[in-house]
Amino acid sequence: MRIGSAVAGGGHHVDQPYPDPFTYDRPYRKVLAREFNSVSPENQMKWEFIHPERNRYNFGPADAIVRFARENGQVVRGHTLLWHSQNPAWLNEGTFTKAELRSILKSHIFTVVGHYRGKIQQWDVANEIFNENGEYRQENIFIRELGPGIVADAFRWAHQADPRAQLFLNDYGVEWPGVKVDAYEALAKQLLADRVPLHGFASQAHLSMRYGAPDQLASVLQRFDDLGLHTAITELDVRMDLPEGGVPTAEQLATQATYYKTVLDACLAVDGCNSFTIWGFTDKYSWVPVFFPSEGAATVMWDDFAKKPAYYALRDTLKAARR
Ligand code: XIL
Repeated sequence: MRIGSAVAGGGHHVDQPYPDPFTYDRPYRKVLAREFNSVSPENQMKWEFIHPERNRYNFGPADAIVRFARENGQVVRGHTLLWHSQNPAWLNEGTFTKAELRSILKSHIFTVVGHYRGKIQQWDVANEIFNENGEYRQENIFIRELGPGIVADAFRWAHQADPRAQLFLNDYGVEWPGVKVDAYEALAKQLLADRVPLHGFASQAHLSMRYGAPDQLASVLQRFDDLGLHTAITELDVRMDLPEGGVPTAEQLATQATYYKTVLDACLAVDGCNSFTIWGFTDKYSWVPVFFPSEGAATVMWDDFAKKPAYYALRDTLKAARR
């Protein structure tokens, strides 16, 4: 079982009043090395970061994470190759023929996946490709311009570039059954029928205590397990509405711990769910307060890395599962 964390850097961190966390926060690095056996670059492998200009790749920050992982006996989850968000301006604002756009995606995948060949356990090849209604997202430039068939091509190219990496579909809003899960199940069946190298389905699990714990998650994951796929939890966090003063109550923290445990239990209940990743381990660097105003405290540790009840809930659940 791999227990992972996102590695803070890039994205929203760039606008925060601290230097790059992964590079400069030594206590942070210590906890990251000690507590986890899997890491996911939070932003450092996204297009805008790793491919900032059409003819320039920026591998340095992601390379540093891959090196750190190797030194600490951790695997790496690659994130991500085909997504509508965090793409560079040259891609979003460029005018390309369909043939050019296709070759841009193909060479990006061959270059990035090839660069890390043999060093990535799981790649989130396609991220958030369906909207809430289970329709292909038209904000995704590749899907909009080239049609949904591009998803299968992305998997084929990634597999050619690194035959050993497990290739995943990844999304949020798939923690409960519904049309989005149905869309993924239909797509997974189609891809498998077409012999496309799809190996896994992942639930991000960005949860909010406004909506209740995902008590049907195991049954959702099981549907993909039944297709012969790996499953994974890739970006778990549990945000809450912060009271006046910003400090969660003991009751809120206890509830949060049960959410974390619910998700881990779901993964443990499914045979092929061997990868469980939280989206950062400390509130110090969490994306939540930046993206969800008035919500926060979503991770398992406080700013000073002191452990919350959610941390102990995960630890005790893992201990019990090992017996
Ligand atoms: C978030 C990062 O945590 C932020 O640093 C960044 O500013 C925006 O993206 N789904 C995903 C992740 O697949 O890549 C997102 O990460 C959170 C939602």
